Amino acid sequence: MADNDSRQGKSYFNKAILDWTAAVHAPHDAGLQQAFDAPARHGLPPIQVAPSEGKLLELLLRLAQARTVVELGTLAGYSTLRLARALPAGGKVYSLESDPRHAAIARDNVAAAGLSAKVEVLEGKALDVLPSLEAKGPFCAVFIDADKENYDRYGRWAAAHVRTGGLLLGDNAFLFEELLDDTPRALAMRRFHEEARAAFDTVCIPTPDGILLGVKR
Ligand SMILES: C[S@@+](CC[C@H](N)C(=O)[O-])C[C@H]1O[C@@H](n2cnc3c(N)ncnc32)[C@H](O)[C@@H]1O
Repeated sequence: MADNDSRQGKSYFNKAILDWTAAVHAPHDAGLQQAFDAPARHGLPPIQVAPSEGKLLELLLRLAQARTVVELGTLAGYSTLRLARALPAGGKVYSLESDPRHAAIARDNVAAAGLSAKVEVLEGKALDVLPSLEAKGPFCAVFIDADKENYDRYGRWAAAHVRTGGLLLGDNAFLFEELLDDTPRALAMRRFHEEARAAFDTVCIPTPDGILLGVKR
């Protein structure tokens, strides 16, 4: 479709269409469904990635033949499972989570999905925990989905610790329609976008809230 027609700028997102296409292309088995439902069941915020976004993460990791992934922001482990499913035997997701209750629920969901051998949930603020992972790098991918104020710092860490050809993935890259605002977290998110270009070949995928994808040079 040409983008210079009268529809330019119009959003085509429609919940019924998103739900239908997710059911066709990104269905849940029992493990994924348990993790996806866990925030609502446990009174956590329902801020996990959508099913199609989770499947996109899974496919991108498979395309990159990823074996090791660092995830920032576990919540109840839904995206963690999507990442882990993409890895071969012996692969590992290190998922960082600052809230001990979220981490405990995520570990239960990972175990229920039979993926504990591929996942370590590490508790603590990401900036405190990341240095302890550095000796295990370079990593095949970093998926950023934690506090938005620190995305620029997380992006710098990824630039230093992702292997050539590895992936940078950043959720909420449109920052809930606040990306162009004059706030500390909008400035941090714009720095994340701009600085990522130096180390990665990048695109911002226009999912409902944007996913920044970079391939390490
Ligand atoms: C959007 S949720 C993650 C959703 C998850 N990636 C998914 O899609 O299933 C963000 C998570 O990051 C955690 N978080 C917030 N600040 C953090 C920090 N500084 N370090 C690590 N985790 C953090 C929150 O407790 C929350 O569980």
